[in-house]
Amino acid sequence: MATNTLTITDNRTGRSYEVPVADGTIRAIDLRQIKVDDEDFGLMSYDPAFLNTASTRSSITYIDGDRGILRYGGYPIEQLAEESTYLETAYLLVHGELPTEAALAGWTQEITHHTLVHENVKHLMEGFRYDAHPMGMLISVVAALSTFYPEASTVDDPEVRAAQAVRLIAKVPTIAAWSYRHTRGLPYVYPENELGFTANFLSMMFRMAEPRYEAHPALERALEVLFILHADHEQNCSANAMRAIGSSKVDPYSALAGAAAALYGPLHGGANEAVLKMLAEIGHLQEVPGFIERVKKGEGRLMGFGHRVYKNYDPRAKIIKQVADEVFEVTGRNPLLDIALELEKIALEDEYFVSRKLYPNVDFYSGLIYEALGLPVAMFPVMFAIPRTAGWLAQWLEGADDQEQKIARPRQLYVGAKERDFVPLEQRAGRELVAV
Ligand code: CMC
Repeated sequence: MATNTLTITDNRTGRSYEVPVADGTIRAIDLRQIKVDDEDFGLMSYDPAFLNTASTRSSITYIDGDRGILRYGGYPIEQLAEESTYLETAYLLVHGELPTEAALAGWTQEITHHTLVHENVKHLMEGFRYDAHPMGMLISVVAALSTFYPEASTVDDPEVRAAQAVRLIAKVPTIAAWSYRHTRGLPYVYPENELGFTANFLSMMFRMAEPRYEAHPALERALEVLFILHADHEQNCSANAMRAIGSSKVDPYSALAGAAAALYGPLHGGANEAVLKMLAEIGHLQEVPGFIERVKKGEGRLMGFGHRVYKNYDPRAKIIKQVADEVFEVTGRNPLLDIALELEKIALEDEYFVSRKLYPNVDFYSGLIYEALGLPVAMFPVMFAIPRTAGWLAQWLEGADDQEQKIARPRQLYVGAKERDFVPLEQRAGRELVAV
């Protein structure tokens, strides 16, 4: 008769242990009882980079990496990209259900009325160097928001948490757009309440002297879809950062700045920037095979390829490829697209990439779309951070309500020196210097 337990035999002692199996997992803490003697700390699991460790229970986003499935709250990403809006999707992530008509109207009204930032935020941004990276500005200014909302540190109060979630979803696009205006030396454009979330963002980005910025409807919708696709992705590097920082009960502005910093790296949200740089460096179609050969020799990576979880294809990449076609119909074809298509074609047939299950990820084509929308490469990670704000907040809110969560604090395997006596400075001459 099958039981939901795992029997472990410790061959060091010959003893057996039975630990419960629930939801296809054992609890790592159940290993602690396994000891060779009373002095032993107990068995731990060693899992650098969390390759096989579930850090939380979550009902926000579901991914089946082998089958290329992504769902928010059970809804397939393909349907959301087709039928939803970013704000509706953000509501779904934060509240766990699609809103009713009245709830969506209320949510939209709330977000819209929190898009303005304190004038001191503007002055703070004006203090950055003219060529400051917009992502560095976004990270710093989001952290600085905590000084404007000191009540946000009362994180045990659900109402306070909800209010900061609204503020962040509303204000991040304003800060993001202003970071772009700053690098262009353009005056900052204030949000307009009559515009929708995406149209308002485009207006804050691109409005010049005209009384109203009219975004092309196809481009506005394309951005809406990109925002939906980027809104959450379960326990990725930045979501994990958001939860880990949030677990110390710091305010959400500080936690979200940390999450955004994690996103900035080229292996995560910085990949779209890295893809464009890579395509520009390759430069010509005839250089593609040589580039692929260099990647296979380990001289760099094919950016925008591969994923920790998706080992079949990234469903977001499929949708993005379609969006790219729609955008290029309006803006004209990006010449780098041909290089991207050729890279994809060769890589998908090449044994190196096939055997490692490396497929295009969300970032392979998103940069080309952003470029077609007129955005400089440095803005690409910012474009990822805007929609991911909803996902980070959803993860943070879920963590705050989770009775099983405590401050995130992994164990380590110490491999440094054993106890030794301090050596006075004058006696250290001739000893090998250890690089610091
Ligand atoms: N180009 C060439 N080889 C690769 C690539 C790549 N893009 N990605 C993985 N590999 C190889 C890697 O060298 C290794 O080969 P071997 O077994 O011979 O050592 C094997 O594939 C497994 O790679 P890994 O580094 O162990 O895989 P990982 O799960 O730790 O890394 C990844 C996932 C996304 C960091 C990685 O695929 C990568 O660096 N991709 C390029 C950066 C990128 O596009 N990132 C965006 C991810 S999607 C957006 C997001 O959610 O943030």
